[in-house]
Amino acid sequence: MVTATGRRYETAADRALTYDDYLGLTTLLGLQRPLSTHPDELHFIVVHQSTELWFKLLAHDLRRIVGLLDADRLPEACTVMRRVNGAMTALLAQMRSLRDLPPHSFHAFRGLLGGASGFQSGQFRELEVCSGLRDEGYLRDLRAVCGGALPGAVVRSLGQRSVAEAHRDAARRAGLGDWSALYTEERAATTLYVLSEQLMDYDELWLRWRTEHVALVRRVIGGSTRGTGGTAIDYLERTLRHRFFPYLWESRDTLAAAPAGEEGPRGGTAG
Ligand code: HEM
Repeated sequence: MVTATGRRYETAADRALTYDDYLGLTTLLGLQRPLSTHPDELHFIVVHQSTELWFKLLAHDLRRIVGLLDADRLPEACTVMRRVNGAMTALLAQMRSLRDLPPHSFHAFRGLLGGASGFQSGQFRELEVCSGLRDEGYLRDLRAVCGGALPGAVVRSLGQRSVAEAHRDAARRAGLGDWSALYTEERAATTLYVLSEQLMDYDELWLRWRTEHVALVRRVIGGSTRGTGGTAIDYLERTLRHRFFPYLWESRDTLAAAPAGEEGPRGGTAG
């Protein structure tokens, strides 16, 4: 920048942007602060931190999907949903890498974690509620393990529209009377069908994450040790029943009940 008196000052805009500046790498790479000298603790931290980064992208994309569904822009919602499922696949793979964390290595630094637990992840709760998980059973269980009050992230997210709500409303506007009516040759060629199957993929990826997380916990600390967050393994096992889009899963039951070639009893309504 040149001033009125002709003096030259270098501003941020004058400097060529570097890779490090753009990504804030100095800050980012300074955020891994192991509490022990154990060489495996860095892996544990990196997997958790990178998962939280993917969670951030997921929450951002799910909010976009709600907006696109509300505007009946289903093809665009499908494009974003594809990336959402890619992100889920990536974070699942990252968690799998922790199967290579030997139990004795984890125990070498676990005691230093105090009460810190993934259970406290605000972004995880935001994703659950914004995806569609808000039934009384889920909230009751969460209240019970959180000492009677819901975590702040859940309370905040309950005030926002979920993907499941936006999906059900978009289906109703598209003229779908009940969910089993989606599974016909004619409907299978629609964008609503493709999107609904992508939501099934998403729900299933979460089920995989939860199942593999429980397996990882059993593998690393066993089935009788309480977590650093204070819960027993059966809490995590109960979470395996959660579904964001239960109506899509239940509609399969009514298809199986229908005699071949006839329209069977109908599943839940799309509204
Ligand atoms: C060695 C690996 C891991 C162990 C032993 C472990 C252990 C546990 C345990 C015991 C719980 C139950 C809550 C508690 O009492 O602490 C829990 C919950 C949780 N963990 Fe992990 N975890 C591991 C890896 C991860 C990773 C990589 C993530 C990714 C961010 C993660 C995220 C979570 C979340 C979100 C919950 C809450 C689940 C829910 O309430 O449905 N954990 N973990």
